[in-house]
Amino acid sequence: MISTLDHSDLQRVLDREHRSARAQREQRQARRQADDARGVTASRPRSFREANYYQHAYLSIGPAQGALLYFLARASGARRLVEFGSSFGISTLYLAAAAADNDGIVIGSEFYANKRDHALANLRDAGLAARAEIRLGDATETLVDIEGPVDFVFLDGEKSLYRPVLESLENRLAEGAWVVADNLDHLAGEPGDFRHFILNQRERYTTRLMPVGKGMFSISQWCGGDKRVDTA
Ligand SMILES: C[S@@+](CC[C@H](N)C(=O)[O-])C[C@H]1O[C@@H](n2cnc3c(N)ncnc32)[C@H](O)[C@@H]1O
Repeated sequence: MISTLDHSDLQRVLDREHRSARAQREQRQARRQADDARGVTASRPRSFREANYYQHAYLSIGPAQGALLYFLARASGARRLVEFGSSFGISTLYLAAAAADNDGIVIGSEFYANKRDHALANLRDAGLAARAEIRLGDATETLVDIEGPVDFVFLDGEKSLYRPVLESLENRLAEGAWVVADNLDHLAGEPGDFRHFILNQRERYTTRLMPVGKGMFSISQWCGGDKRVDTA
């Protein structure tokens, strides 16, 4: 049995997109270093609504993170996958590959139309268009009416919205559903942030933090709404 992950069209698209994302990241780092050397403090983007930065930046997961997402989703048999923050669709490609192998679908979300269009073109190019849809707009609004049961959630949008997006899906999470969130290394784990929240929800989620590739995932398994106790 050949995994969709090894299909040549998908590999070609992933190679191209990872290369573009890496080049963009390296350029950004070089610009920051040059600014630092000149003593210029560039203002850091604060919100996903700040178009210049977020509308054009990949900010994508790397290949090791993508492979882990694929294997987790594939091994768990996930058929309805939800993604918060699709950007140019690199992570969506890995999730769509798992969806294809599990006879399922991934429902992504992206605030910017140019990014959604690029992500959809990538999915077509990889032969995975039938395995994905990407909802345009603010995910706190576009993901609320998703049909359950949801088997797999990937959180990679605005970090302050991880919790509201996840909680808005909880009544449709399948027993044993998986929830993966990226960039946990960017959070201090203080009361009010998602890292603190997810690590202190032991009646609802079993969670571990895992360094993967260039970042850190939290990987959680939903224990079921009937055991719900707020511990945060
Ligand atoms: C870190 S990037 C996602 C990278 C993508 N998952 C990948 O690995 O290729 C975050 C993306 O989420 C989008 N985003 C952030 N907050 C959002 C929201 N509330 N609704 C929809 N999209 C959002 C941003 O525009 C950005 O493209």
